[in-house]
Amino acid sequence: MTPTDDLLKWRPEFPILASTTYMVTHSLGAMPNRTRERLAEFAETWATRGVRAWEERWWDMPKEVGNLLARIIGAAPGTVLMLPNQSTAQATVLSCFDWTGPRNAVVTERLNFPSNLYLFHGLERLGARIVTVPSDDGMTIDIERLLAAIDESTKLVSVSHVLFKSSAVQDLTAIVDRAHAVGALVLADLYQSAGTVPINVDALGVDFATGGSVKWLCGGPGAGYLYVRPDVRATLQPRLTGWAAHRAPFAFDDGPIDYADDVSRFANGSPAIPALYSAMSGYEIIAEIGVPAIRAKSLRQTRQLMQLAEAAGLRIVSPREDRARGGTVVLDVPNGHAVTKQLAEENVLVDYRPGAGIRVAPYFYTTDAEIERTIDAIVVARRAALPAAIRV
Ligand SMILES: Cc1ncc(COP(=O)(O)O)c(C=O)c1O
Repeated sequence: MTPTDDLLKWRPEFPILASTTYMVTHSLGAMPNRTRERLAEFAETWATRGVRAWEERWWDMPKEVGNLLARIIGAAPGTVLMLPNQSTAQATVLSCFDWTGPRNAVVTERLNFPSNLYLFHGLERLGARIVTVPSDDGMTIDIERLLAAIDESTKLVSVSHVLFKSSAVQDLTAIVDRAHAVGALVLADLYQSAGTVPINVDALGVDFATGGSVKWLCGGPGAGYLYVRPDVRATLQPRLTGWAAHRAPFAFDDGPIDYADDVSRFANGSPAIPALYSAMSGYEIIAEIGVPAIRAKSLRQTRQLMQLAEAAGLRIVSPREDRARGGTVVLDVPNGHAVTKQLAEENVLVDYRPGAGIRVAPYFYTTDAEIERTIDAIVVARRAALPAAIRV
């Protein structure tokens, strides 16, 4: 038994593992058992406390749950606010700036998540210039090219920590250093890293970080988050706003808004309370295990997965080097969509992304045998998906 096998003791906490080989946490993490209790608690509170629930707990839950998340990404208490999703969190940051002056560029990468790219291009209507660093191999972004794109005209550098299509890890330290050296701010999308790749936003000095709970945090939909560096917070006045961002929301003052001093400044309307209840258990479990232990197991199992895939003749389109690879391995399998569907019939869950391939993710709850089963199932399904004439 390797020491990391200790993590398998968590398996009974995730009901789906009893019936399913669950290799798709990069898309939707498995639900913890105790989430049922948390959701029941939400229903009970609503049923019995009614409108009093707002002042007894609900109104401050975006900050309460944000503090649970903060521990996972190395943020100080009071610096993270929960928002309905990652796209809203990014849009809130972008709405803080004026894009008309000489410093009007957003530097980003072609492999950033589509929502983010759509939002940046929307800023062109407000005078922003979008500098998108291309990818030569569809898997990585050359870091020197990215750093060279950042100059005195850059207002914001917006990148993903781990790229969603290939699971490549980007060098946030180098990006933050370069951006700050020329007076630009950095917005990092942590959706594919937080929980599975260690990150410390405080030590890194990143200005903004965004993400959500659906994937590695096992927290379910509707619970995105926004981290803002405390010393930049007071200078920002988001245009994407609402009454929850007011310093005294229940005064129902007419406009213009008088922003709250704390992280509520980045809120908009009423928070998505059931989603916050559903997010908490995953955060607690990840924090209890600790991301370094999760990462150590992930590196071991993704290496195992790549060895088996290679031995089976499957092409790997994720970085091989440990430090450059997140929690997912992407395999370029012909007829990937059909193969993924066939696996689902057999209760082996992976997913397929056009232009990337089949994404396979072990997590702290995965056994080594499940990795073997997944590769075996892909090999068999790949043969079945080939036209009969070329099957061997
Ligand atoms: C890196 C990354 N960013 C953003 C998103 C989407 O975030 P949301 O749906 O919360 O806006 C995803 C996946 O859905 C993702 O993988």
